[in-house]
Amino acid sequence: MSNKYTAKKIKKKKDYLSIIWNDDFESKFHFLWLRDNCPTAIHPTANMRVFNILTVSKNIFPKKINIEKNKLYIDWSEGNHKSIFNLKWLRDHCYTEINKQNYKSPYIFWNGKLKSNLNKIKFNHDKVLKDDNYLKKWLEFLHSYGFVIIKKSPIKKKSGFKIINRISHHRETFFGTPFEVINIPKPNNTAYTAQALRNHTDLPYFEYAPGYQFLHCLVNNATGGKSSVVDGFAVADYLRKNEKDVFRLLTETYVKFKDTDYTQKAIRILHSPIITLNKNNDFNDIRFSMAAMGTIDVNPKKMKKFYEAYQFFASLLQSNKFKINFRLEAGDIFCFNNRRVLHGRTEFDPNSGNRHLQGYYIERDEILARLNYFNNLSV
Ligand code: OGA
Ligand code: ZN
Repeated sequence: MSNKYTAKKIKKKKDYLSIIWNDDFESKFHFLWLRDNCPTAIHPTANMRVFNILTVSKNIFPKKINIEKNKLYIDWSEGNHKSIFNLKWLRDHCYTEINKQNYKSPYIFWNGKLKSNLNKIKFNHDKVLKDDNYLKKWLEFLHSYGFVIIKKSPIKKKSGFKIINRISHHRETFFGTPFEVINIPKPNNTAYTAQALRNHTDLPYFEYAPGYQFLHCLVNNATGGKSSVVDGFAVADYLRKNEKDVFRLLTETYVKFKDTDYTQKAIRILHSPIITLNKNNDFNDIRFSMAAMGTIDVNPKKMKKFYEAYQFFASLLQSNKFKINFRLEAGDIFCFNNRRVLHGRTEFDPNSGNRHLQGYYIERDEILARLNYFNNLSV
């Protein structure tokens, strides 16, 4: 057992036990926390807490403590209860230490220069299906870069499910799964035309917009229809560092997103900032779609400034500094974090050939949960 997991000294303080470990680190474990995390509190197979916090008082304390070998023994003041903790478990869950650690963002930002190194984010379809280590690597790239292309997948309709199911299940929406990205008469969405689509995130009018999108290219031999992709977090980071007022406006102003698809008996409206942050001030998500933007209804005092910020952000999202243009080939699956990475396409000529993509959504939760599993994360 390494030094780190051996206790040198234990002391009972007013509200907590202090353990000084052999590496001289001091952990504080509060009484209620210890009682709540007694190993007997957890169901042995369901792995869920069966202990009810209401069965003890807030004044509970250890009557007797004792460390022997690699275990801590506690006799509690209430309920005639005894707990036995593995010291390794305590050190691994030491919240004194966890709270001392600096936050490290999982995201690797990229810009237009990634184009010269695109092989880095290309993955082979069959290897993702067969090899767990390779699957893990693919998931790591999805999480850190938010953009990956799977090559050499079959061009059979609906075969994208195999890749989705390698992670877990898809996220359903009213578009169905997969949704058919093909030009149709009387389109209910501009994606189902042959027109260009400016860089956007999908479905920004959902309170919980789909986390990832996989666009599976079955055929793409029409003239035009080139894809574009841009790291929205990288652009937002540029604003945070260089255009503080623009950044503030885009993180604080609630704008309206909407969908009034004529095939649906639903009107979807959501007010949200375009850029949101998480508790660590890291990026949470980007919602951006000129097409799905409602009629903006911010305070007249703020409208001019907001529009300038919005337009500036839009210009960076379309700029060569940040975006990458590439051509999807039959058998490619273009996978991206839909709440970070924006995608688009140029216009195509439907009379010159065929273009057909099938789209799938999957939640960010599913990618993260699989990564946690592969990383053996203890919680
Ligand atoms: C979409 C979309 C891009 C494309 O269906 O949401 O943006 O290349 N499609 O057709
Ligand atoms: Zn889209």
